[in-house]
Amino acid sequence: MANEQAIGIFDSGVGGLSVLAHIHQRLPSESLLYIADSSYMPYGCKPEAVIQKRCVEISAFLSRQQCKAIVVACNTATAAAVHHLRASYSFPVIGMEPAVKPAVFHSRSKVIGVLATSTTSASDKFNRLAARFAQHARLIVQPCPGLVERIESGDLTGDKTRDMLSSFLQPLMRQGMDTLVLGCTHYPFITALIRDIAGGDIHIIDTGDAIACELERQLQSRKLLSENKTASIKFWSSGDAEKVAPVMSRLWGDKIMVQQLPF
Ligand code: DGL
Repeated sequence: MANEQAIGIFDSGVGGLSVLAHIHQRLPSESLLYIADSSYMPYGCKPEAVIQKRCVEISAFLSRQQCKAIVVACNTATAAAVHHLRASYSFPVIGMEPAVKPAVFHSRSKVIGVLATSTTSASDKFNRLAARFAQHARLIVQPCPGLVERIESGDLTGDKTRDMLSSFLQPLMRQGMDTLVLGCTHYPFITALIRDIAGGDIHIIDTGDAIACELERQLQSRKLLSENKTASIKFWSSGDAEKVAPVMSRLWGDKIMVQQLPF
């Protein structure tokens, strides 16, 4: 495995870009290959078996591209497939899960909100995590159907997104939540709107940087870190690449070219 090989990162759509940004910031010498599985988005209301099949196909593609590690930049896909992917590859496979443990540590009121997709909220993996770390806290899990689609459409501040988000946050606020876990990688893109609705005092936890740290740790321990001065970032989508490119460019903060994924 050569140090200059790329790291593959994927999500159902644009959400994983929030993780990609942390990885690029922490590891600027790494070449990155990002896949948005736009034609299967949203994952969050699909059965785990369907998501697992896509994760297997995407990971096989990334492996054929000679990636030295894979980051599943999606809580829903991690819950559905990470154990399977780890069993299939000898290189590091990093997944993500809602940051329940740090939330319990930070919260004073011990009333913690978790925004997640329906599939993540219902998953065994998440429910085991909640049972393990939130015994001495009140964890209120709020599935957010429709919210990922709002973000995919590029509407981060409009009335439709605000109304939908308000309806998800109000019950948590009424119950005295002081800490909010973003349990889906799309949600960091609406942090400003969350603060606007829930107030500036709310402690918001996003796991993007923790994942970048874990990736760095795993590459370091296998002596796989790159020192490439000309690292590149490439973007792929299974949807209509021309259609998704403008939203991806906007969320990434730079004009990007998106290639068509062949499956
Ligand atoms: N971004 C994904 C996550 O972290 C889910 C998006 C979707 O529902 O497709 O869970």
